Amino acid sequence: MNPEVRTLRAQDVAWLADLHNAAFADYPVPAVLDASSLGFYLTETDVDPALSRVAFVDGAPASFCLGALRGDRASIRGEGTAPGFRRSGLGRLVLEQTLEALAAAGARTVTLEVLNGNDAAVGLYRRSGFEQRRRLLGYRLARPGRGFRSRLSGGLAESDTDTAIDRLARWGWRDPPWQLETESLAHIPAQHLDGRAVLLGKRRGDHFWLYALAVDPERRRKGLATRALSLLPAAWVGVPALIPEEWWEAGALLRSLAAETEGHWQWEMRRSLASG
Ligand SMILES: CC(C)(COP(=O)(O)OP(=O)(O)OC[C@H]1O[C@@H](n2cnc3c(N)ncnc32)[C@H](O)[C@@H]1OP(=O)(O)O)[C@@H](O)C(=O)NCCC(=O)NCCS
Repeated sequence: MNPEVRTLRAQDVAWLADLHNAAFADYPVPAVLDASSLGFYLTETDVDPALSRVAFVDGAPASFCLGALRGDRASIRGEGTAPGFRRSGLGRLVLEQTLEALAAAGARTVTLEVLNGNDAAVGLYRRSGFEQRRRLLGYRLARPGRGFRSRLSGGLAESDTDTAIDRLARWGWRDPPWQLETESLAHIPAQHLDGRAVLLGKRRGDHFWLYALAVDPERRRKGLATRALSLLPAAWVGVPALIPEEWWEAGALLRSLAAETEGHWQWEMRRSLASG
Protein backbone atom coordinates (compact mmCIF):
# COMPACT_ATOMS: atom_id res chain seq x y z
CA MET A 1 0.00 0.00 0.00
CA ASN A 2 1.32 3.40 -0.96
CA PRO A 3 -0.82 6.04 0.76
CA GLU A 4 -0.87 9.66 -0.34
CA VAL A 5 -1.37 12.20 2.46
CA ARG A 6 -2.45 15.75 1.85
CA THR A 7 -3.97 18.76 3.58
CA LEU A 8 -7.76 18.85 3.85
CA ARG A 9 -9.49 21.34 1.55
CA ALA A 10 -12.72 23.20 2.24
CA GLN A 11 -14.45 21.47 -0.72
CA ASP A 12 -13.61 18.02 0.71
CA VAL A 13 -16.47 18.27 3.24
CA ALA A 14 -18.91 16.41 0.96
CA TRP A 15 -16.90 13.17 0.80
CA LEU A 16 -15.37 13.67 4.26
CA ALA A 17 -18.86 13.14 5.73
CA ASP A 18 -19.01 9.73 3.98
CA LEU A 19 -15.54 8.76 5.22
CA HIS A 20 -16.44 9.91 8.72
CA ASN A 21 -19.64 7.86 8.68
CA ALA A 22 -17.80 4.77 7.40
CA ALA A 23 -15.13 5.15 10.09
CA PHE A 24 -17.70 5.58 12.87
CA ALA A 25 -20.22 2.99 11.60
CA ASP A 26 -19.10 0.46 14.23
CA TYR A 27 -18.94 3.07 17.00
CA PRO A 28 -20.89 2.44 20.23
CA VAL A 29 -22.47 5.91 20.03
CA PRO A 30 -24.06 6.53 16.62
CA ALA A 31 -22.26 9.33 14.79
CA VAL A 32 -23.83 9.88 11.38
CA LEU A 33 -23.28 13.32 9.90
CA ASP A 34 -24.33 14.87 6.62
CA ALA A 35 -22.11 17.41 4.89
CA SER A 36 -23.92 20.38 6.42
CA SER A 37 -23.78 19.11 10.03
CA LEU A 38 -20.12 18.17 9.55
CA GLY A 39 -19.47 21.68 8.19
CA PHE A 40 -21.18 23.16 11.26
CA TYR A 41 -19.11 20.96 13.60
CA LEU A 42 -15.88 22.00 11.84
CA THR A 43 -16.74 25.68 12.23
CA GLU A 44 -17.95 25.37 15.82
CA THR A 45 -14.79 23.63 16.98
CA ASP A 46 -12.38 25.74 14.87
CA VAL A 47 -11.08 22.89 12.71
CA ASP A 48 -8.51 24.34 10.31
CA PRO A 49 -8.34 22.44 6.99
CA ALA A 50 -4.70 23.55 6.59
CA LEU A 51 -3.91 21.82 9.92
CA SER A 52 -5.84 18.62 9.07
CA ARG A 53 -4.69 15.66 7.00
CA VAL A 54 -6.36 13.04 4.81
CA ALA A 55 -4.84 9.84 3.43
CA PHE A 56 -5.83 8.25 0.12
CA VAL A 57 -5.10 4.72 -1.02
CA ASP A 58 -5.28 4.23 -4.81
CA GLY A 59 -7.19 7.51 -4.96
CA ALA A 60 -9.83 6.46 -2.39
CA PRO A 61 -10.21 8.47 0.85
CA ALA A 62 -9.08 6.09 3.62
CA SER A 63 -8.18 8.03 6.79
CA PHE A 64 -8.55 11.55 8.21
CA CYS A 65 -7.38 13.59 11.18
CA LEU A 66 -8.85 17.02 12.03
CA GLY A 67 -6.65 19.63 13.72
CA ALA A 68 -7.67 22.88 15.43
CA LEU A 69 -5.62 25.62 17.03
CA ARG A 70 -6.46 28.36 19.56
CA GLY A 71 -3.42 30.40 20.53
CA ASP A 72 -0.81 27.83 21.49
CA ARG A 73 -3.39 25.16 22.37
CA ALA A 74 -4.35 22.59 19.79
CA SER A 75 -6.92 19.84 19.59
CA ILE A 76 -7.54 16.79 17.44
CA ARG A 77 -11.23 17.19 16.68
CA GLY A 78 -11.74 13.76 15.18
CA GLU A 79 -9.91 11.00 13.44
CA GLY A 80 -10.96 7.85 11.67
CA THR A 81 -9.86 5.17 9.24
CA ALA A 82 -12.38 3.38 7.02
CA PRO A 83 -12.77 -0.22 8.33
CA GLY A 84 -11.18 -1.82 5.24
CA PHE A 85 -7.94 0.13 5.74
CA ARG A 86 -7.38 -0.35 9.50
CA ARG A 87 -4.23 -1.64 11.21
CA SER A 88 -2.07 -0.56 8.32
CA GLY A 89 -0.54 2.51 9.91
CA LEU A 90 -2.83 5.11 8.32
CA GLY A 91 -4.27 6.36 11.62
CA ARG A 92 -0.80 6.95 12.97
CA LEU A 93 0.35 8.53 9.69
CA VAL A 94 -2.40 11.18 9.52
CA LEU A 95 -2.11 11.81 13.28
CA GLU A 96 1.66 12.37 13.16
CA GLN A 97 1.41 14.67 10.16
CA THR A 98 -1.39 16.65 11.77
CA LEU A 99 0.67 17.00 14.98
CA GLU A 100 3.64 18.22 12.93
CA ALA A 101 1.46 20.82 11.21
CA LEU A 102 0.04 21.96 14.57
CA ALA A 103 3.50 22.24 16.13
CA ALA A 104 4.77 24.22 13.13
CA ALA A 105 1.78 26.58 13.54
CA GLY A 106 2.74 27.28 17.17
CA ALA A 107 0.90 24.66 19.24
CA ARG A 108 2.49 23.71 22.55
CA THR A 109 -0.17 21.33 23.88
CA VAL A 110 -2.73 19.08 22.16
CA THR A 111 -5.87 17.58 23.64
CA LEU A 112 -8.45 15.16 22.31
CA GLU A 113 -11.32 13.06 23.63
CA VAL A 114 -11.84 9.31 23.33
CA LEU A 115 -14.96 7.37 24.28
CA ASN A 116 -14.53 4.85 27.09
CA GLY A 117 -13.89 1.38 25.77
CA ASN A 118 -12.33 2.61 22.52
CA ASP A 119 -9.11 0.70 23.16
CA ALA A 120 -7.94 1.05 19.55
CA ALA A 121 -7.92 4.85 19.80
CA VAL A 122 -6.49 4.94 23.34
CA GLY A 123 -3.70 2.61 22.12
CA LEU A 124 -2.98 4.80 19.11
CA TYR A 125 -2.84 7.99 21.17
CA ARG A 126 -0.83 6.55 24.06
CA ARG A 127 1.77 5.34 21.57
CA SER A 128 1.90 8.88 20.19
CA GLY A 129 2.68 10.31 23.63
CA PHE A 130 -0.79 11.28 24.88
CA GLU A 131 -1.80 10.65 28.49
CA GLN A 132 -5.25 10.18 29.95
CA ARG A 133 -5.82 13.41 31.85
CA ARG A 134 -9.38 13.33 33.22
CA ARG A 135 -12.78 11.81 32.63
CA LEU A 136 -15.57 13.80 30.96
CA LEU A 137 -19.03 12.70 32.11
CA GLY A 138 -22.50 13.01 30.63
CA TYR A 139 -25.82 13.12 32.47
CA ARG A 140 -29.54 12.79 31.89
CA LEU A 141 -32.24 14.07 34.20
CA ALA A 142 -35.94 14.70 34.26
CA ARG A 143 -36.63 18.45 34.27
CA PRO A 144 -37.00 19.46 37.94
CA GLY A 145 -40.51 20.38 39.11
CA ARG A 146 -41.34 24.07 39.46
CA GLY A 147 -42.74 23.79 42.96
CA PHE A 148 -39.33 22.74 44.13
CA ARG A 149 -38.20 26.30 44.91
CA SER A 150 -41.54 28.04 45.03
CA ARG A 151 -40.21 31.13 46.79
CA LEU A 152 -38.28 32.07 43.63
CA SER A 153 -40.05 33.85 40.79
CA GLY A 154 -39.01 35.17 37.38
CA GLY A 155 -38.64 33.41 34.08
CA LEU A 156 -35.96 32.54 31.59
CA ALA A 157 -35.28 35.21 29.00
CA GLU A 158 -33.29 34.98 25.81
CA SER A 159 -29.82 36.34 26.12
CA ASP A 160 -27.26 37.47 23.64
CA THR A 161 -24.73 34.61 23.53
CA ASP A 162 -21.72 36.96 23.83
CA THR A 163 -23.13 38.49 27.01
CA ALA A 164 -23.88 35.05 28.45
CA ILE A 165 -20.35 33.84 27.66
CA ASP A 166 -18.89 36.94 29.24
CA ARG A 167 -20.82 36.15 32.43
CA LEU A 168 -19.74 32.50 32.33
CA ALA A 169 -16.12 33.57 32.08
CA ARG A 170 -16.47 36.10 34.93
CA TRP A 171 -18.36 33.69 37.18
CA GLY A 172 -15.81 30.93 36.77
CA TRP A 173 -15.59 28.53 33.83
CA ARG A 174 -12.24 27.03 34.68
CA ASP A 175 -10.27 24.80 32.37
CA PRO A 176 -13.16 23.46 30.28
CA PRO A 177 -12.58 20.80 27.61
CA TRP A 178 -12.28 22.12 24.03
CA GLN A 179 -15.96 21.75 23.17
CA LEU A 180 -17.00 23.78 26.22
CA GLU A 181 -14.42 26.53 25.73
CA THR A 182 -16.02 29.91 25.22
CA GLU A 183 -14.99 29.89 21.53
CA SER A 184 -16.92 26.64 21.00
CA LEU A 185 -20.00 27.96 22.81
CA ALA A 186 -20.25 31.09 20.65
CA HIS A 187 -22.78 29.42 18.30
CA ILE A 188 -25.15 28.09 20.98
CA PRO A 189 -28.34 29.92 22.02
CA ALA A 190 -28.31 31.42 25.53
CA GLN A 191 -30.87 32.30 28.19
CA HIS A 192 -30.67 34.03 31.54
CA LEU A 193 -32.62 34.13 34.79
CA ASP A 194 -32.76 37.65 36.16
CA GLY A 195 -29.16 38.30 35.06
CA ARG A 196 -27.99 35.99 37.87
CA ALA A 197 -27.90 32.66 36.10
CA VAL A 198 -27.05 31.89 32.48
CA LEU A 199 -27.46 28.73 30.48
CA LEU A 200 -26.56 27.73 26.95
CA GLY A 201 -28.14 24.87 25.09
CA LYS A 202 -30.64 23.78 22.50
CA ARG A 203 -33.79 21.73 22.41
CA ARG A 204 -34.02 18.62 20.27
CA GLY A 205 -37.27 16.65 20.55
CA ASP A 206 -38.13 15.99 24.19
CA HIS A 207 -34.54 16.78 25.33
CA PHE A 208 -32.90 20.07 26.11
CA TRP A 209 -29.14 19.64 25.50
CA LEU A 210 -27.39 21.71 28.10
CA TYR A 211 -23.84 22.86 27.31
CA ALA A 212 -23.24 25.43 30.03
CA LEU A 213 -24.88 26.69 33.20
CA ALA A 214 -23.48 29.19 35.68
CA VAL A 215 -24.77 31.22 38.61
CA ASP A 216 -23.32 34.47 39.89
CA PRO A 217 -21.02 33.40 42.79
CA GLU A 218 -22.79 35.91 45.08
CA ARG A 219 -26.13 34.21 44.49
CA ARG A 220 -25.20 30.57 44.79
CA ARG A 221 -26.97 27.99 46.97
CA LYS A 222 -30.29 29.83 46.63
CA GLY A 223 -31.91 27.50 44.11
CA LEU A 224 -31.27 29.58 40.99
CA ALA A 225 -29.72 26.80 38.91
CA THR A 226 -32.55 24.42 39.85
CA ARG A 227 -35.15 27.05 38.97
CA ALA A 228 -33.49 27.79 35.62
CA LEU A 229 -33.56 24.08 34.75
CA SER A 230 -37.18 23.74 35.91
CA LEU A 231 -38.16 26.36 33.30
CA LEU A 232 -36.62 24.60 30.31
CA PRO A 233 -39.01 23.75 27.45
CA ALA A 234 -38.41 19.97 27.47
CA ALA A 235 -39.25 17.06 29.75
CA TRP A 236 -35.65 15.82 29.80
CA VAL A 237 -32.31 17.53 30.19
CA GLY A 238 -29.28 15.94 28.55
CA VAL A 239 -25.76 17.01 29.40
CA PRO A 240 -23.24 15.81 26.78
CA ALA A 241 -20.29 13.76 28.03
CA LEU A 242 -18.08 16.82 28.35
CA ILE A 243 -18.28 17.65 32.08
CA PRO A 244 -14.91 17.16 33.81
CA GLU A 245 -15.30 14.82 36.75
CA GLU A 246 -13.37 17.33 38.87
CA TRP A 247 -16.10 20.01 38.42
CA TRP A 248 -17.52 18.98 41.76
CA GLU A 249 -20.13 21.75 41.99
CA ALA A 250 -21.66 20.63 38.68
CA GLY A 251 -21.64 17.02 39.89
CA ALA A 252 -23.20 18.03 43.21
CA LEU A 253 -26.01 19.98 41.51
CA LEU A 254 -26.76 17.15 39.09
CA ARG A 255 -26.77 14.53 41.85
CA SER A 256 -29.12 16.71 43.93
CA LEU A 257 -31.53 16.58 40.98
CA ALA A 258 -31.26 12.79 40.73
CA ALA A 259 -29.46 12.99 37.37
CA GLU A 260 -28.17 9.70 36.02
CA THR A 261 -24.62 9.48 34.79
CA GLU A 262 -24.51 8.31 31.16
CA GLY A 263 -22.89 4.93 30.55
CA HIS A 264 -20.67 6.51 27.88
CA TRP A 265 -18.04 8.91 29.10
CA GLN A 266 -14.87 10.22 27.50
CA TRP A 267 -11.21 10.34 28.34
CA GLU A 268 -9.63 13.71 27.77
CA MET A 269 -6.09 12.96 26.61
CA ARG A 270 -3.27 15.45 26.35
CA ARG A 271 0.31 15.70 25.22
CA SER A 272 2.87 18.42 25.01
CA LEU A 273 4.37 19.48 21.70
CA ALA A 274 7.08 21.59 23.28
CA SER A 275 10.53 20.60 22.09
CA GLY A 276 12.27 17.91 24.07
C1 LIG B 1 -8.71 4.48 16.03
C2 LIG B 1 -8.49 4.36 14.50
C3 LIG B 1 -8.53 5.79 13.92
C4 LIG B 1 -7.11 3.73 14.23
O1 LIG B 1 -6.87 3.79 12.82
P1 LIG B 1 -5.84 2.79 12.09
O2 LIG B 1 -5.58 3.38 10.76
O3 LIG B 1 -6.35 1.41 12.14
O4 LIG B 1 -4.56 2.93 13.07
P2 LIG B 1 -3.05 2.44 12.77
O5 LIG B 1 -3.05 1.29 11.82
O6 LIG B 1 -2.23 3.61 12.39
O7 LIG B 1 -2.61 1.94 14.23
C5 LIG B 1 -1.58 2.58 14.96
C6 LIG B 1 -1.50 1.97 16.36
O8 LIG B 1 -2.73 2.20 17.08
C7 LIG B 1 -3.03 1.05 17.93
N1 LIG B 1 -4.25 0.39 17.46
C8 LIG B 1 -4.95 0.67 16.34
N2 LIG B 1 -6.03 -0.13 16.24
C9 LIG B 1 -6.00 -0.96 17.31
C10 LIG B 1 -6.86 -2.01 17.74
N3 LIG B 1 -7.96 -2.36 17.05
N4 LIG B 1 -6.54 -2.61 18.90
C11 LIG B 1 -5.46 -2.26 19.61
N5 LIG B 1 -4.60 -1.26 19.23
C12 LIG B 1 -4.87 -0.63 18.09
C13 LIG B 1 -1.84 0.12 17.77
O9 LIG B 1 -0.89 0.53 18.73
C14 LIG B 1 -1.38 0.46 16.36
O10 LIG B 1 -0.05 0.12 16.11
P3 LIG B 1 0.30 -1.40 15.62
O11 LIG B 1 -0.65 -1.72 14.50
O12 LIG B 1 1.73 -1.26 15.17
O13 LIG B 1 0.10 -2.28 16.80
C15 LIG B 1 -9.56 3.45 13.83
O14 LIG B 1 -9.68 2.24 14.58
C16 LIG B 1 -10.92 4.06 13.70
O15 LIG B 1 -11.21 4.73 12.70
N6 LIG B 1 -11.83 3.84 14.69
C17 LIG B 1 -13.18 4.44 14.66
C18 LIG B 1 -13.13 5.95 14.87
C19 LIG B 1 -12.41 6.32 16.14
O16 LIG B 1 -12.49 5.64 17.16
N7 LIG B 1 -11.67 7.45 16.11
C20 LIG B 1 -10.84 7.89 17.24
C21 LIG B 1 -11.61 8.63 18.26
S1 LIG B 1 -12.26 10.12 17.65
